[in-house]
Order: sequence, then C-alpha cells, then structure tokens
Amino acid sequence: LTNLLHATEAQHLYEAAREAMANSYAPYSKFAVGAAVLTFDEKIYKGVNVENASYGLTICAERIAIGNSITNGNRDIRAIAVCTRAAEATPCGACRQFIYEFGPGITIVYMSNGILVQKTIAELLPLGFDGSMLLHL
Ligand code: THU
Repeated sequence: LTNLLHATEAQHLYEAAREAMANSYAPYSKFAVGAAVLTFDEKIYKGVNVENASYGLTICAERIAIGNSITNGNRDIRAIAVCTRAAEATPCGACRQFIYEFGPGITIVYMSNGILVQKTIAELLPLGFDGSMLLHL
C-alpha cells in the first residue's frame, strides 16, 4: 500500500475536508479551512481552523485534524486533504512540520486551480526536522 491515493480516493478525502469546512470557526479572517486525515486502516478524521480574538492563538485545520486522529488512537497517517475557497491553498509552514512528525511520505491532497494535486509532505517540506535530530543531546 503506497501513500499515493487513487484519484477516486483523493476526491473522497477532499470531499471530507470540504464537509468539515462548514464547521470552521473563522470570525476574524472569514477564511474557512477544512482538513481530513486518512489513516492506513481507512479511517477519516476531520479538522477545521479555530480562530481566537487573540489572533495568534489560532489553530489551523490540519493540526486539529491530526490531533483528532491521534486522540482516537490512530497515528498511522497516509494522507491529509485540505480544502478552502481559494484557487490554490497548501498547508502553512507550521502545519508542514506538524505533519512531517508522522512521516515524510504522508500525501498532501490539495486543489490547484481546479486540479486535485498530490505531493508528499517531504516534497513540501525539504529537510524537515525529526526526532532523530534530537539524539545528539
Ligand atoms: N489556515 C489553516 O487552517 N490552514 C492553513 O494551511 C492555512 C491557514 C487558517 C488559519 C486562519 O484561521 C485562516 O486560515 C487564515 O490564515
């Protein structure tokens, strides 16, 4: 089983991210984001961005979705889709590092001008930081 999704699987995951988007809490930016984690045992865990009146406390949809997967005992992440109303939107830098923690091969599914694109997190975050880098301490 590879991390790359078949087109229909990618569409299904992206649709889950779109469904989640409806529950986004984004009263300040008004920029709704939905995310959906797909695990290797084919479960889907959703997340939305959660903003705060103290703007910098905002948490992105991707991190909420991963937290949801981890909370439910599922760390075996295959892919994450992200949905917004922008023509193209990819996970922010902080989320890339957060995703990388669970594997450099995780597939990111996102829309780019009407085309559903898949890239690994290692492609989106070259030389990501990982736990092995802590071992010299
Ligand atoms: N946002 C996400 O949820 N994920 C991203 O990858 C990019 C940004 C949210 C944070 C904030 O609530 C809004 O989008 C505007 O930055």
